[in-house]
Amino acid sequence: MIKRKKAYEKEAEFQYEILSNELQKIYGKKDKAFEAVKKINLRIEPGIHGFLGPNGAGKTTTMNMLVGALAITSGEAKIRNEKAGTVEARRLIGFLPQDPVFYDNMTGEEYLIYMGKLGGLNKMEARKRAQELCVYFDIFNDRTRPIGEYSGGMKQKIGIAAALIHKPKLLILDEPTANLDPIGRANIIDKIKEISKTVSVFVSSHILSEIEQMCERVTMINKGAIVISDTLKNIKQQYIGNTYELDTNKNKEMLKSLKQKDYVQNTWIKEEDGTIQIIPQDADKLKQEMPKVILENNAILYSFHIPEISLQDIFMEVYVEKGDKK
Ligand SMILES: Nc1ncnc2c1ncn2[C@@H]1O[C@H](COP(=O)(O)OP(=O)(O)OP(=O)(O)O)[C@@H](O)[C@H]1O
Ligand SMILES: [Mg+2]
Repeated sequence: MIKRKKAYEKEAEFQYEILSNELQKIYGKKDKAFEAVKKINLRIEPGIHGFLGPNGAGKTTTMNMLVGALAITSGEAKIRNEKAGTVEARRLIGFLPQDPVFYDNMTGEEYLIYMGKLGGLNKMEARKRAQELCVYFDIFNDRTRPIGEYSGGMKQKIGIAAALIHKPKLLILDEPTANLDPIGRANIIDKIKEISKTVSVFVSSHILSEIEQMCERVTMINKGAIVISDTLKNIKQQYIGNTYELDTNKNKEMLKSLKQKDYVQNTWIKEEDGTIQIIPQDADKLKQEMPKVILENNAILYSFHIPEISLQDIFMEVYVEKGDKK
């Protein structure tokens, strides 16, 4: 009874899937020392969370420390309240490394059973679960072929299946769609979205549109430091543009009229697509008066809105802001 209560209290305490405190990695020593992860404080809540950053930002280094595959230089990390690197923490995690190493002679099924046993399942359980996962990932007919014969997409599926075999609470996926064609990517993204309904996912990528499709929250890092960590919605709101876009059948005439309005600060025609761009002096008035301007010009309205900002735009802006135009 007491034990049970304790377990419950622990569960109630649990707020973050991943929580790190000044987590740091220094590779090498003395004059060769290189700080790849700069004392970061991660807060990863349940759900699906994207980990973004350009090549060399420190994503793989961070993930490897979280799963206990790489020694932490200083600071600490917790996985659902368990210290990263301990057996307890490892059991909670299913991990897909950036470059998984497979035994090419093993069949897919043998590999999954092997990983299942490593994850604490007995042989019977491991076989049952391996077969379920092969069905789930649509590789059941290939499960008895050696992995050496698998395509990149099939290997990626086996890698994710192996990460799921012991029913972890948290999946950590390091670039799960790397090297896949668009169909393979879409396939893996759909699966990850589906899996994330029952298991939390922390997924890295530098393909922003993918993260945008999958994640509610994102953390962006650059040169070992966190640049932004928030919900996609908040990030987009923070960076939302102030430039309205207008398209009609008479853009030239409309532009002339708008130039004379006191509620318009600046307006011009965008070369790429011929739409009118408007920076308002008074946004409410611009919206109120727009129907009148259209009537005055006897124009047909195609669209009038603030274009949605993409994660790509934000990413560029964040790095340009920080003086890093790479
Ligand atoms: N074993 C190592 N020894 C020394 N430096 C390393 C080592 N592994 C990584 N680094 C360096 O640490 C930095 C972060 O690398 P890391 O692999 O974590 O980046 P990443 O964000 O995963 O990049 P990518 O998107 O290319 O996978 C890079 O500058 C890299 O050169
Ligand atoms: Mg990496």
